[in-house]
Amino acid sequence: MRLEGKTAFVTGGASGIGAATARRLAAEGARVAIGDLQEDAAREVAGELDGFACALDVADTGSVRAAVAAAEETLGEIDVLVNNAGTDRFSFFVNTDEELWDFVLAVNLRGVLAMTHAVLPGMQQRRSGSIVNVASEAGRVGSQGSAVYTAAKAGVIGFTKVIAREAARYRVRCNAVAPGPIETPLLNAAPAMLGEVGERLKQAMVDSTALKRSGEPDEVAAAIVFLAGEDASYVTGQTLNVSGGLSMW
Ligand SMILES: NC(=O)c1ccc[n+]([C@@H]2O[C@H](COP(=O)([O-])OP(=O)(O)OC[C@H]3O[C@@H](n4cnc5c(N)ncnc54)[C@H](O)[C@@H]3O)[C@@H](O)[C@H]2O)c1
Repeated sequence: MRLEGKTAFVTGGASGIGAATARRLAAEGARVAIGDLQEDAAREVAGELDGFACALDVADTGSVRAAVAAAEETLGEIDVLVNNAGTDRFSFFVNTDEELWDFVLAVNLRGVLAMTHAVLPGMQQRRSGSIVNVASEAGRVGSQGSAVYTAAKAGVIGFTKVIAREAARYRVRCNAVAPGPIETPLLNAAPAMLGEVGERLKQAMVDSTALKRSGEPDEVAAAIVFLAGEDASYVTGQTLNVSGGLSMW
């Protein structure tokens, strides 16, 4: 088992890619903490894994600090952080307002900053750790109906590189994955929010992949667990596309 004896924290682990990642991390021997807005669903996933769950809003720094402290008290210091929590409100940019900008940036970008800021000092002190951020192909190629989300995810890709450089001297690695269209409630929120147009946007994303299909959460989880563990010991600052070849750079 590749993560025996390690403690991992997954944000947004109650659903989709985060839940699949929590399951894979546990299967590799890690003790797993899940923080999510959906506390009951987080408890269900953690219950399966003999893990720890707590309420977490990554957009709220106080909630982030409390969740990290509670997880470390229960499971031990965090060796692996997966910044996975994310959301979108799918709207063409001209129809957005400042409230939407602040909300989408707070969850998708500021949340990654807050969690990293809470966990990284301990990793650096222990001279060991691995952070995996869940970005998006949106942050590489741009996704219509998701301007602010795209901006946030591009920010996460840049942030990943800086943390990789700053933390390298402490033997902490930081990487990201950029999923394409993955079958989760988030992907299917686009059609729900934008109707027929959302359905077409989703289909266009799937058609843009070389493999001509959407992905499953576990296909992203496999890449996250690879980057989290020692199989990726010489990999840092990278963003790995897990997108059926949607983009190839
Ligand atoms: N599904 C896709 O097509 C796709 C593509 C690219 C990137 N992603 C990214 O993958 C990650 C996981 O998304 P998913 O597709 O599994 O969606 P999902 O909706 O299934 O899961 C997201 C989880 O994050 C939680 N969450 C949302 N806001 C939160 C907050 N403020 N604090 C804590 N938890 C919060 C939700 O409750 C949910 O459990 C996100 O970062 C998303 O942007 C998804």
